[in-house]
Amino acid sequence: MAQTSGRAWQDLPVIRLTGKGRRWAKSGHPWIYRDDLAEMVPLPAGELVAVVGPTGDFLGQAFYSATSRIALRLVTRREEAVDREFWAARLEGALTYREQVAPGVEARRLVYGEADGFPGLVVDTYGPHLVVQTLHPGPERLLPLFLELLTSRLSPASITLRHDAEVRLLEGLALEVRTVKGEVPERLTIREGDLTFLVDVLRGQKTGLFLDQRENRLTVRLYGQGEVLDAFAYQGGFGLHLARNARQVTLVDSSAAALEVARENARMNGLSHIIAIKENVFHFLRKAVQEGRRYDTIVLDPPAFAKSRQDRPGALRGYLEINRQALELLAPGGCLITCSCSYNLREEEFLDLIRQAAQAAGRELRLVERRGAARDHPALLSLPESLYLKCFILHALS
Ligand SMILES: C[S@@+](CC[C@H](N)C(=O)[O-])C[C@H]1O[C@@H](n2cnc3c(N)ncnc32)[C@H](O)[C@@H]1O
Repeated sequence: MAQTSGRAWQDLPVIRLTGKGRRWAKSGHPWIYRDDLAEMVPLPAGELVAVVGPTGDFLGQAFYSATSRIALRLVTRREEAVDREFWAARLEGALTYREQVAPGVEARRLVYGEADGFPGLVVDTYGPHLVVQTLHPGPERLLPLFLELLTSRLSPASITLRHDAEVRLLEGLALEVRTVKGEVPERLTIREGDLTFLVDVLRGQKTGLFLDQRENRLTVRLYGQGEVLDAFAYQGGFGLHLARNARQVTLVDSSAAALEVARENARMNGLSHIIAIKENVFHFLRKAVQEGRRYDTIVLDPPAFAKSRQDRPGALRGYLEINRQALELLAPGGCLITCSCSYNLREEEFLDLIRQAAQAAGRELRLVERRGAARDHPALLSLPESLYLKCFILHALS
């Protein structure tokens, strides 16, 4: 059986905060930056520590990072034992919530980091196959326990570790992808709405699919008509859902591997009016504008352009450019579905940027839906960083 310390908080190593750090911790944010520690403590990465204020008052228990600017990630603000029962109860809470908001959904997120009380841990499920990502040395140390809890609660056919997210490097963790239990087929299939999609949990992007967009993909079906362009299409998620009422769907992505799967997805679902083009979307859009092409429905779902605050100026230019060009391509009465998954770009800023793009393209838009991540990806209000996905659905009036 996997071990967890289960020590009372009084027995944990103690980390003292400065007065400013204490005020920050009290404000509710679950991360504490290294500048706010009153002294440097030589501790192993991932250690569970007791966090106290300058006078020794208890503030919470947290995972310690030895390398990141974020020194502490709060696990609990209570004076409780962080033991096997504690984690089992948190897992139960996460699973119960998924049953409530995404009942019977084959491909969904089961555990989403801080929002489920598991800092640095992600668990996705594709049917009976689980994919686990630890992004912090805290959950990495507890991985044997977490795998055991997942196994006894869910009896999965396989568990794969997708430990290839680059943020692991910031925490001094190695990159690897490994199936640690059972066997996972090279390509498994899942249902999303009335469509079937192939998933490669070992090599696909993220943990196989962009599960955070699931509800948005299902919603946009209402808006598919005529000529559809799905830009940054990955394996055709949006495009295939839009295809039912479309004359033709063009998928554009820079990944040949993703488009190969998109073609197979189209075949599997009996959709023959799908074209998949491997190209940089920036080039594709510029060329399409020059050629005077028109689309009735356009999806823009780019990767995060602003991964850090320093990336913001370039990212803003990128978002502005693709949205302006998409609006130049949009037919009168057409629909633009535009997304940003940069948490360094707030919702209001993104909306303002779309306003600028509309002005530059000479289009009048109305906002039809203002959406975010699917319900199985809830954002923690005290952690603005978890409110990252924006998805606007807009109609061109002229
Ligand atoms: C957020 S994902 C799209 C997810 C997809 N809409 C879905 O729901 O499954 C972004 C995609 O953009 C692609 N990509 C990144 N940069 C690109 C570029 N400059 N041109 C074309 N595709 C790009 C990636 O390969 C990835 O498939």
